[in-house]
Amino acid sequence: MLLVTVGQRLASRIAARGPIPVSEYVEACLYDPDGGFYMRGGRAGGRSGHFLTAPEVGPLFGAVLARALDGWWARLGEPEPFTVIDWGAGPGTLARSVVAAEPRCLSEGVLEWIALERSPAQRALRPDHPAVKSAARLSDVLPQPAPAGVIVANELLDNLPFDIVRRTPGGWEELRVAVGEASGRRGFSLVGVPAPAELVAGLPAVAVGARVPVQRAARDWVADAHRVLGAGWIVALDYGADTRTLAERAGPSDDPGAGLGWLRTHRHHQGGSSWLAEPGSCDISADVALDQVQADHRADVCSQAEFLRTHGIEELVAEGRATWDARAAVGDLEAMRARSRTAEAETLLDPAGMGGFRVLSWSIGS
Ligand SMILES: C[S@@+](CC[C@H](N)C(=O)[O-])C[C@H]1O[C@@H](n2cnc3c(N)ncnc32)[C@H](O)[C@@H]1O
Repeated sequence: MLLVTVGQRLASRIAARGPIPVSEYVEACLYDPDGGFYMRGGRAGGRSGHFLTAPEVGPLFGAVLARALDGWWARLGEPEPFTVIDWGAGPGTLARSVVAAEPRCLSEGVLEWIALERSPAQRALRPDHPAVKSAARLSDVLPQPAPAGVIVANELLDNLPFDIVRRTPGGWEELRVAVGEASGRRGFSLVGVPAPAELVAGLPAVAVGARVPVQRAARDWVADAHRVLGAGWIVALDYGADTRTLAERAGPSDDPGAGLGWLRTHRHHQGGSSWLAEPGSCDISADVALDQVQADHRADVCSQAEFLRTHGIEELVAEGRATWDARAAVGDLEAMRARSRTAEAETLLDPAGMGGFRVLSWSIGS
């Protein structure tokens, strides 16, 4: 059998139709059913993953979320069921930590956790627990049209396909993916074409030459999420900044393909692979343009550190310290877990790292 790679399929498409939008290229690189990075099993995680996310740092993030869930459940009047949709759940690590933390909504038997994940390879790793369901699409599992609960999306929005535009003296051009010669090698590269008006509608003025992401899929996700819940909260945690700040990070350049400071790649915990080489071989993500995703629905925004402190991370670390003091001599698993909370908290709260991530929350039906 002749195996055709994602790159070959993309090259044929470009040969047939001309340069393609970056969003189409990124969609194939990440989610092509036969070779997209996530579809082949690429994922967040330590040894078997390619990059670390907050739930993959350790169980502390899930323990804090478990406390937050009990708080939200109480504020909603303790609905039954209490539905939590973990959108872009990866291998289900967050569900595992929340279950292990035993929030009251779980012990009262009302928590219904829906792990939504596009990648079948990752869905196969979901925790086996009666409260946890796993699905590729919400329509496959949602028991009622408008449940009361919470949608959590940790590092989902940065992984939704985005387009790229560049400011010109007269307006904007769209950068599309073409096949051409670069440094003496044939490969994918970016070319500029006139930008469709709907692509650049609402973008702020930035310096001529600056390149910014256009995140329509992320904005549409916010609208979709608003249609799902009858009451509760949508909480999206991610790295990001306003479009103007992202424009400064990419810097003006005459070369459309020159480094984009807001575009990240990950492979085996290393950044910096070229996203235009070997499609499907690495994660590709864009810092979330916070103004764009709030264009239709304004959110409350805080840092991840503030969010975690609001929901009791410091109490959990103090509890861990007390357990360690009491059990250090025993040195069992419980003692080790308790001690590791301090190190996990440092990572999660680091203002230069995950602590500086943004948390966008939308309150629904209040
Ligand atoms: C960066 S990973 C984050 C995984 C997990 N939330 C975490 O924090 O470790 C993003 C995940 O979102 C999934 N994803 C992307 N688009 C999705 C969609 N529309 N529905 C469900 N999952 C999606 C990807 O397959 C990937 O596993």
